[in-house]
Amino acid sequence: MLAVAVLAAGKGTRMKSDLPKVLQDLGGRSLLSWVLNSARPLAPDRILVIVGFGAEQVQASLSDQPDLEFVLQAQQLGTGHAIQQLLNPLKNFRGELVVLTGDTPLLRASTIANLVEFHRSQRRSATVLTGILPDPTGYGRVFCDDRQKIIEIVEHRDCTPTQRLNSRVSSGVYCFDWAELAIALPKLTNHNAQQEYYLTQVFDYLPEVYALDLADHQESLGINDRLQLAQAYGVLQQRIKQDWMRHGVTMIMPETITIDPEVQLAANVRLEPQTHLRGKTQIGSGSKIGPGSLIENSEIGADCQVLYSVITASSVGDRVKIGPFAHIRGESRVGSDCRLGNYVELKNAHLGSQTNAAHLSYLGDARLGSQVNIGAGTITANFDGKFKHVTTIGDRTKTGSNTVLVAPVSLGNNVNVAAGSVITQSVPDNALAIARAMQVTKPDYYDAQGQKKSE
Ligand code: UD1
Ligand code: CA
Repeated sequence: MLAVAVLAAGKGTRMKSDLPKVLQDLGGRSLLSWVLNSARPLAPDRILVIVGFGAEQVQASLSDQPDLEFVLQAQQLGTGHAIQQLLNPLKNFRGELVVLTGDTPLLRASTIANLVEFHRSQRRSATVLTGILPDPTGYGRVFCDDRQKIIEIVEHRDCTPTQRLNSRVSSGVYCFDWAELAIALPKLTNHNAQQEYYLTQVFDYLPEVYALDLADHQESLGINDRLQLAQAYGVLQQRIKQDWMRHGVTMIMPETITIDPEVQLAANVRLEPQTHLRGKTQIGSGSKIGPGSLIENSEIGADCQVLYSVITASSVGDRVKIGPFAHIRGESRVGSDCRLGNYVELKNAHLGSQTNAAHLSYLGDARLGSQVNIGAGTITANFDGKFKHVTTIGDRTKTGSNTVLVAPVSLGNNVNVAAGSVITQSVPDNALAIARAMQVTKPDYYDAQGQKKSE
């Protein structure tokens, strides 16, 4: 049997935040979700999350995972005290307990699986996942003999200056034989610099404890403050971008690009500088995104171009040209071969194929057919001060520059609207609509010097 316990009760004082530390965001997921995701592939028999500070908030954030068992550590008296809270829930449990800390989000699932496999093959009391860090400041130092058997673990604050020179640290991840751990746990004391019950003290009471060094020490990065949060984001981004480049995505100046973990990119996508892909965004083959674009929870087809634009919660077909400076949002659906250019905003607008809005437009709550041409400065006036209304525009219809369509209103197929019209009544198929004041021209109104002539 295998159980996993995740330590998530601490406040995270060093974050200087009201949010429980384990709920801090890293690339669109909480630190704790990252840790749980890395434990899932082990298919443990039980997963226990130890909560305390902000327990309700932490529990609510995981409501989509009903199999989790929450264990309350009402007072946070240290990591050892946290694990003591498992003595009751795991009373009849036999097997291994893997302990993870809720603040080490970069740990890979394969690393935890290796730890468990190694531990089982060696039949020891406990195995500690350790890392050799270039800068071990802040971590517990692990002292081993030459066979990797652990002599003791000393917290940074309790180390002598010489002990601090040891660069082998505890990642805070352990695999224990639960029966042996359960006997050692009640023996913990809080006689140390922080007057806490340290989990690392159990190794004083367990006979056979060995260290297993991480191949990639970055996995052990523990997030205690916002500097480490930023550092972890850097490592995460490096992993994600290297992975996509190996899958055939081109990136120009990748250090200026950010990509969330759930983004999906086809081969031959080209990402230009300062491009940010968020949420569940998908991009089709041959599309060129950027420079300077933000795409969030949206689907972009193949062979599109997006230049200095923002697209959120929307979908775009194939061969669409967007930007510079377009904003597409609010569940908009753009068909194939469309062009949306300079200073055009779409909100909940559905466009057929080959429809263009190239300059200075707002299309909100609008349903447009195919081959529509929206003239510069066309606006759908969709809000009457209280309610939003829909504008419908048929196939092959054209609006002149500076048209205002006062919704609810519809234009049929093959309609032509004269420039400067304010359309308040629907227009049938094949009609020309003109809705503006007639022009008045007064000849010989000025003399040759530009002075108004007297009448
Ligand atoms: C801990 C380890 C240290 C290790 C480091 C790795 C101890 C004493 N120290 O130090 O050896 O190198 O992690 O990152 O174990 N927590 C509780 N209840 C508590 C206290 C903490 O659930 O009473 C949780 C926190 O929410 C956090 C985790 O335990 O997720 C670790 O606590 P933290 O204070 O960050 O420990 P470190 O000082 O980083
Ligand atoms: Ca920590």
